[in-house]
Amino acid sequence: MAEWREREIDRVPSGAPLPSALDHDALDLYVQRLFADEDDHLRAVRARADRAGMPRIQLPPATARALQILVAAAGARRVVEVGTLAGYSALWIARALPPSGRLITLEINPDHAAVARRSLAAAGVADRVEVRVGDAAALLAALGPDGAFDVVFLDADKERYPVYLEEAARLLRPGGLLLADNAFWSGRVLDPDGGEVAAQLNRFNRLVARDPRFEATILPVGDGLMLGVRD
Ligand code: SAH
Ligand code: DHB
Ligand code: MG
Repeated sequence: MAEWREREIDRVPSGAPLPSALDHDALDLYVQRLFADEDDHLRAVRARADRAGMPRIQLPPATARALQILVAAAGARRVVEVGTLAGYSALWIARALPPSGRLITLEINPDHAAVARRSLAAAGVADRVEVRVGDAAALLAALGPDGAFDVVFLDADKERYPVYLEEAARLLRPGGLLLADNAFWSGRVLDPDGGEVAAQLNRFNRLVARDPRFEATILPVGDGLMLGVRD
């Protein structure tokens, strides 16, 4: 909102450059090339998605790599993803799991789910990933037991992130991670006239910021990756 733009005085002096002093496009590519190189399977997931006419709204590689590293750092064995699309982020997550680990990824569109299942099988992670078809709110409500999951990743219908927040709070173990893509919504969360989705994401960010069940922040990678640790 405009209030954030007016408070330059609140910026804490630091040796770090202002974000505006950095070439974020070039630095994002620098990170991608060093840390988030795609192999043939990841490229194939995107190619199959294109052929199926899906929108190109999968995570960018640097964000997917950050998610993957966080899943590994959490020592995660049980992960839930909300919003599978073609299985691109699911493949990054699956590769951070031990052989006994499981990713349950939720997708409302059966065509998307079918394409994702083919890609995940071709990439050799079908044994670790289960694609469930249906509305994520209902599918999450059916998951359990409480506290059985290490990571919950949200990347579907933004207006329902607050509903998914409640399910994540229930499903995550203490120390478990809640992650959510698109926390910046292309920067429009700052704009009071940024549209309905921007307003919804802004409400979600505020909700998480004051939620006593989570210690949270937004990592400024890609479109903003909200990261919360369950108390
Ligand atoms: N995480 C994916 C991108 C997900 S795009 C990746 O990075 O590769 C968002 C997906 O969420 C779409 O496939 C859409 O069909 C699905 N979706 C939207 N609303 C949903 C809902 N209510 N329940 C489950 N999936 C939903
Ligand atoms: C959209 C959804 C996403 O999750 C994303 O990362 C980018 C765009 C969309 O619905 O337009
Ligand atoms: Mg997204």
